[in-house]
Amino acid sequence: MSGHESSYTPTNAFTKWLDSRLPLVRFAQDTAINFPTPKNLNYWYTFGGILAVCLVIQIVTGVILAMHYEASVDGAFASVERIMRDVPFGWLLRYIHANGASMFFLAVYIHMFRGLYYGSYKAPREILWILGCVIYLLMMGTAFLGYMLPWGQMSYHGSNVITGLFGAIPLVGESIQTWLMGGPSIGNQTLQRFFALHYLLPFMIAGAVVLHVWALHVPGNNNPTGVEVQDVKKDTVPFHPYYTVKDAFAIVIFLIMFAVFVFYAPNVLGHADNYVEANPLVTPSHIVPEWYLLPFYAILRAITFDLGPIPAKLLGVIFMFAAIAVLFILPWLDTSKVKSMRYRPVAKQFFFGFVAVCLLLGWCGAANPDDAVIPALQGEAKLVVSYNDGNGGEATSEYKGGSEAYVDARRFMEGLPEDANASISAVPAPTFAFRHLSLILTFCYFGFFVLLFFLGLTEKPKELPESIHKSVLKRHKDADAAATPAE
Ligand code: HEM
Repeated sequence: MSGHESSYTPTNAFTKWLDSRLPLVRFAQDTAINFPTPKNLNYWYTFGGILAVCLVIQIVTGVILAMHYEASVDGAFASVERIMRDVPFGWLLRYIHANGASMFFLAVYIHMFRGLYYGSYKAPREILWILGCVIYLLMMGTAFLGYMLPWGQMSYHGSNVITGLFGAIPLVGESIQTWLMGGPSIGNQTLQRFFALHYLLPFMIAGAVVLHVWALHVPGNNNPTGVEVQDVKKDTVPFHPYYTVKDAFAIVIFLIMFAVFVFYAPNVLGHADNYVEANPLVTPSHIVPEWYLLPFYAILRAITFDLGPIPAKLLGVIFMFAAIAVLFILPWLDTSKVKSMRYRPVAKQFFFGFVAVCLLLGWCGAANPDDAVIPALQGEAKLVVSYNDGNGGEATSEYKGGSEAYVDARRFMEGLPEDANASISAVPAPTFAFRHLSLILTFCYFGFFVLLFFLGLTEKPKELPESIHKSVLKRHKDADAAATPAE
């Protein structure tokens, strides 16, 4: 799995025999032990290893949970309760699995933003990045399917919302929705297929991770400077022990943080409504997905207007999928020759702006779209009486302030002549609601990618520091000078 020359030499008769038949030890040595890794990788580079640990934890705990889980609408909720109360250490398994999903997403977001910051998606690592995006999509699918399984109120009504999205697709939408649900509505057949797929997808993620690491090992790691390794001997160290130790340390710290959630706040990232068994007849007042899907949920709900023949709901779905799709084409959207944001002072500011936009979108996704963003700045609702002013024109009179306003407005209307044709209407308080903020943030989200395109064409990168000039690039320049014929 390595694009570099193999450094493995079998030492005894058995390893020689094995190596010429199935070079398994050579493969392990080249990828996980001797792999030449840049000397300057920082702790942001430990998240790949952390993610691998998360995946293993999810698969192991998930397989054991599946042994006790019952995928039927009559038994699912009760089987989860049984896991929590009767299965030995079932509570621990479940809390690790449920919080593990959150930890997995936390790690993957850090891993992705790291890639974004250091320009790791650019040539020659486009396939590596795209495989990452595929993994991310699979992760979102898996998490959504898993959330359905406890058959709580949020599971049921959340999956209704998501399967409903497919119904917005013109012509074929309803058929797709019925096909996904396995019937005209969410029920036993839906739960069974979601369980089957929830079991399958993590193994597909594992397969995609193998390809991801393979695609990493052909060009080798990028690094925080974004300047490619020029001299493997001088600029790299073997993966083991240097990075096995560094990764192991980071994994331990990460697991401690993980354990704090599992043992001290196991439900803080979940939703209380999911401890209520699914009831199709009672819809929760506020349906929200898990925190890691909130930014996309905010984008989906931000679009409340039709665009020509495209209805608002479909437009929201298009924007939501576009927000993920844009990541796939990022390697070609960013036109800058410089990889790392360390040397792109302007792009760097926008990068931090983009992180803030994603966090704020998450905040909007969790809020009620019609609530005021800043309640203190919310205006006051009013009653407006409209009437004929007697000269053929229309006049209005406004009343503010609770029930008294209504009494005043009525009294005013009664005092008007009959032919004034008076009518009363309520005007809601003018407010800057989460819906408005979500729309602005959605445009900022897409704006960042457009900006990367134009910025790359015009920006002036920062000078590389002396240390990089001397140690890394000078050798290159000397070689170029030697190759150029003297005048
Ligand atoms: C199960 C999920 C994943 C696992 C287990 C995983 C694993 C890894 C590992 C072990 C590395 C090398 C160490 C490191 O750079 O941290 C790596 C590098 C990388 N990953 Fe992932 N990854 C996952 C998801 C993703 C996703 C979702 C993306 C982006 C959409 C992504 C993009 C990258 C990139 C660009 C690199 C190269 C970084 C560089 O060399 O600067 N990965 N991944």
